[in-house]
Amino acid sequence: MTTQQQPPVLSIEGIIKDYPGVRAVNDVSFSVESSTVHCLIGENGAGKSTLIKMITGALLPSQGNMKINGAPYAPTSTQNARENGVATLFQELHVVDELSVLENLTLGMEQSRFGFLIKSDLEERVIQTLASIEPSINPAARVSSLSVAQKQIIEIARAASSGASVIIMDEPTASLSEREVERLFTVIRKLRSQGVTVIYISHKLDEIIALGDTVTVLRDGKHIVTKPLSEVSGRPELIDMMIGRCVFESYTPRNNLSEEVILSAKGLSNNMLKNVSFEIKKGEIVGFYGLVGAGKTEIARALFGADEVAGSIVFKGEKVGGSPKEAIAAGIALVPEERRTQGLFTNLTIRENIPVMNLRRMSNNGIFRADAELSAATHYIDQLRIATSSIEKHTEKLSGGNQQKVVLAKCLFSKASLLLLDEPTRGVDVGAKTEIYDIIRNLADEGNSVAVFSSELEEVLGICDRIFLLYTGSLESEIINGPDVDINDILNIVTGGNRGVTA
Ligand SMILES: Nc1ncnc2c1ncn2[C@@H]1O[C@H](COP(=O)(O)OP(=O)(O)OP(=O)(O)O)[C@@H](O)[C@H]1O
Ligand SMILES: [Mg+2]
Repeated sequence: MTTQQQPPVLSIEGIIKDYPGVRAVNDVSFSVESSTVHCLIGENGAGKSTLIKMITGALLPSQGNMKINGAPYAPTSTQNARENGVATLFQELHVVDELSVLENLTLGMEQSRFGFLIKSDLEERVIQTLASIEPSINPAARVSSLSVAQKQIIEIARAASSGASVIIMDEPTASLSEREVERLFTVIRKLRSQGVTVIYISHKLDEIIALGDTVTVLRDGKHIVTKPLSEVSGRPELIDMMIGRCVFESYTPRNNLSEEVILSAKGLSNNMLKNVSFEIKKGEIVGFYGLVGAGKTEIARALFGADEVAGSIVFKGEKVGGSPKEAIAAGIALVPEERRTQGLFTNLTIRENIPVMNLRRMSNNGIFRADAELSAATHYIDQLRIATSSIEKHTEKLSGGNQQKVVLAKCLFSKASLLLLDEPTRGVDVGAKTEIYDIIRNLADEGNSVAVFSSELEEVLGICDRIFLLYTGSLESEIINGPDVDINDILNIVTGGNRGVTA
């Protein structure tokens, strides 16, 4: 029997990308084998998204070559990459809510590689593809009626039915619930069995271990290793390859917690929240944990006065919750979940972004102090290890995780006495997570209160003194963190166990 060696579906050969002042991708070479899930990991700013943009034709390399199935590949646009069988699942969804599933699937395809097909054949083809990966979605349904996860599956189906042999996914699970993640994984495995190759980027290492066949690690723009996941011993080895050191997160009970109540919320109700009441004490780190849709963001926004809510919120003896302006004046700051649209002025530089929440601190009798702005920005770039060549960089040019750190720095700099952090480490690498947790603990030790709204159990168990468990808008239970916490209990409650719903 002769075994014929198939060329890799994609080869990257000595790729370099230079930006003014940074070599974002530095002489990277590796191959991606056909019909595999190939994971790409690395710290924030390691160069993952930049590399992907070159593979997908959105950016031109400064140097180097690529090959698809052994043939030269130099895409000049994302359209051109698609014609070569390379499709990308963007972080922002590109579906049209007003159209049906079928209309979305065939949108723009008429002019592309299936231009010769008559419409009904084209429709037949996409309906079959959709059915083969997710039969539960009705092609006639309006896209506006679908969940984020289902919309994502529409995008995947669109890529698959356009004949893509490589589909790239950059942090696809960021806004999916655990069950939806499982569904996505099933879809990805199905694609792989149909001969599609998936390049998968995520900071969630458990996902990499569960899903990946091969892993490539980038660090500071350089290629560190490409190896089969079957040869990786587990999370610690992945972390070590990514950041060159091992980090470990575990909760240590904080002593002498104050009993002074700083915030008291009673009977918060709106279209999402159902009669939610709780207290937060001075110097305490509280967690709000629940699945996507449990009401975490709604509580954060209500406390900040961003959404209308019935009930009462009293902070340091005064009623708040009327408007963000009122909240900020009282000493409450919010780091929102959707950082790019709500948290950052992407057209400003890092130096300009950090002080905007607290211009008062920057001015001396109303005179703006440029030196104070500079020193604040420099301090946080250092403390949070924001990977940037200059503080004069526009934040839109930072990597996703580093943008998140700038938003956090803004909030930390505001000197609020209650910080509301909605998914504070989403998209942040494991090393930077530890630093963010340290900063949160220090702020609390100084007497500030911090509320962490998170869909990562590991996160709330790692840093919070007390954890509120949410299920569909109700506060179901309160847990004092410590060595005896029962994780199964928590999972049972946040999936409706208290209500007799079986998870
Ligand atoms: N348009 C740009 N102009 C200048 N520098 C840029 C630009 N885009 C990215 N960079 C820089 O290139 C480097 C790599 O960024 P990239 O977005 O590829 O990182 P990443 O690995 O995707 O990180 P993350 O996990 O945070 O998403 C960073 O130092 C970033 O600041
Ligand atoms: Mg990125």
